[in-house]
Amino acid sequence: MTKIAFLGMGIMGAPMARFLAKAGHEVVVYNRTASKALAWVALNGGQAAPTPAEAAAGADIVALCVGNDDDVREVVIGTDGALAAMSPGSILIDHTTASAGLARELAGACSERSVGFVDAPVSGGQAGAEGGQLTVMCGCDDDETFDTAKSVIDAYSKSCVHLGPAGSGQLTKMVNQICIAGLLQGLAEGINFAKLAAGEFDFGFAVEWMRKDLGICLEEAERNGARLPVTALVDQFYKQVAARGGERWDTSSLANLLENP
Ligand SMILES: NC(=O)c1ccc[n+]([C@@H]2O[C@H](COP(=O)([O-])OP(=O)(O)OC[C@H]3O[C@@H](n4cnc5c(N)ncnc54)[C@H](OP(=O)(O)O)[C@@H]3O)[C@@H](O)[C@H]2O)c1
Repeated sequence: MTKIAFLGMGIMGAPMARFLAKAGHEVVVYNRTASKALAWVALNGGQAAPTPAEAAAGADIVALCVGNDDDVREVVIGTDGALAAMSPGSILIDHTTASAGLARELAGACSERSVGFVDAPVSGGQAGAEGGQLTVMCGCDDDETFDTAKSVIDAYSKSCVHLGPAGSGQLTKMVNQICIAGLLQGLAEGINFAKLAAGEFDFGFAVEWMRKDLGICLEEAERNGARLPVTALVDQFYKQVAARGGERWDTSSLANLLENP
């Protein structure tokens, strides 16, 4: 049994933490909106902590799945952040989709405290998280840290791969999102053409997170010189969806632009 803190009880984090509890680990959860952490404990047992630092104290592993780079900084190195409370030899696993630069920054901050770090963004969506079937793309500077992290991640994944040093998981997830962006627009066009769209978008992967992901891809492409014309175009479509109040609609809501131009 491993002592694990899980930070962020959102669409993805709550089911991931549930699989850790089911696997017999001792789980302490933290969520910014405390009621969600308490609801999780009522369903799954374990404990809820009022701050990331209190959740992380004494944990062997601290895993998190929050929103964007700023949110990760807040829960890891902000006031009452997890890192300052972590013991040497413990491991921080970040499942948030964030920038590769942040992953390298966190790997450095963790290393100064003799804490291991794995950037571990996921693919598989809400269904993958709820079924414990996620694909996890990992960046990590040493094999031993990765192996320990993987033994825990296995509880909610069907595939967990070490792709290279810190930041490599996030770079791989960018490739995933670049491939998905054009595909989603194609699917929206097909569904609209067949007049199957039910106009319901209240589930899954929020437009605000997709725009954050595409922003990360476009920023990285400015650094490495890659051309991403379709990704940039689909990002503009999502911008229009967000402007209609669709920031929290599911990514399939591209169909809304086609239905109601
Ligand atoms: N949903 C998907 O299908 C999917 C698939 C792959 C990857 N992802 C990625 O996984 C991450 C989480 O996605 P999600 O769909 O689970 O999002 P979500 O349902 O919106 O949950 C986000 C979680 O992060 C917490 N949070 C956000 N900002 C915070 C801050 N500054 N301080 C503390 N906690 C904060 C939220 O707390 P509150 O409850 O207080 O708001 C919530 O628990 C994102 O990076 C997303 O891109 C999502």
